[in-house]
Amino acid sequence: MLDLNGKTALITGGAGGLGLATARAFAREGATIVLWDLDQARGEKALAEGFRFKAVDVADPAAVRAAAAELGPVDVLMNNAGVHTPGDLLEANDGEVMRQLGVNLGSYVWCARAILPGMIERGSGHLVYTASAAGLLGVPGMAVYSATKHAVVGLAESVRMELRRAGHRGIGTTIVCPSFIDTGMFPDNKPPLFTPWLKPEALAEKIVAAVKADRLYVSEPAMVKLIPLLKALPRPVADALCALTGMDRSLRGTSSKKA
Ligand SMILES: NC(=O)c1ccc[n+]([C@@H]2O[C@H](COP(=O)([O-])OP(=O)(O)OC[C@H]3O[C@@H](n4cnc5c(N)ncnc54)[C@H](O)[C@@H]3O)[C@@H](O)[C@H]2O)c1
Repeated sequence: MLDLNGKTALITGGAGGLGLATARAFAREGATIVLWDLDQARGEKALAEGFRFKAVDVADPAAVRAAAAELGPVDVLMNNAGVHTPGDLLEANDGEVMRQLGVNLGSYVWCARAILPGMIERGSGHLVYTASAAGLLGVPGMAVYSATKHAVVGLAESVRMELRRAGHRGIGTTIVCPSFIDTGMFPDNKPPLFTPWLKPEALAEKIVAAVKADRLYVSEPAMVKLIPLLKALPRPVADALCALTGMDRSLRGTSSKKA
């Protein structure tokens, strides 16, 4: 079991939502917390809780490298910053598409590239990637978001294999694949059957437990663990199950809902 006491955890997009809940859970284990987030107002509140905070646009590789150079050793990197623009593929404008690609995928690459060399040098560390259930299954109404989350799963699994191949067995990986979390990111949606809203605090506890035990996946709620089985079914059956559970209508306010 990884002992988090005295360790330093860096959480991107950590000034609110799931990131802040996980920061609190890491802090309860005795870890020192560093938060990078764009949202200065949220950051001020996190500072008042005793966490270190820096306003960093993690989608900007130069800003990430500069902020990383100011940090001492980072034992846990939680790549967690995320944005979502409602709408089907053809509804989003180019800027919104680029922002989702830049934050949800780009920042995970830049932060891993900035922080991983120190972990390799010390022979220890843990990478946490906040993906999504939408990183395991395509969801109508969030095509670009879902694409970035699939890419995060691919990034995390590939980097893990690269580290193993190079003999860096002391660096663990955890990929977080939650369905909808009650943080306000998806205010207008209706979760599918058997996937109740997740509470960020409860999910944060599961993430910390997975990091300590070096567990690769945190898939919540239980329905998410069944996605590989769903995908193994004949397509018409899988489509019918998606319709039956309401998964294909879970994003409100989009053309997928109006159709
Ligand atoms: N809320 C959900 O239902 C849900 C479900 C599955 C996965 N997720 C993922 O969980 C993670 C956390 O989301 P959340 O629900 O806590 O939402 P949130 O909006 O509360 O948190 C996201 C944070 O990322 C920060 N951020 C956005 N762009 C940034 C940038 N360029 N640089 C630095 N910080 C930036 C925001 O300021 C915000 O504090 C995200 O990756 C999200 O995609 C959320």
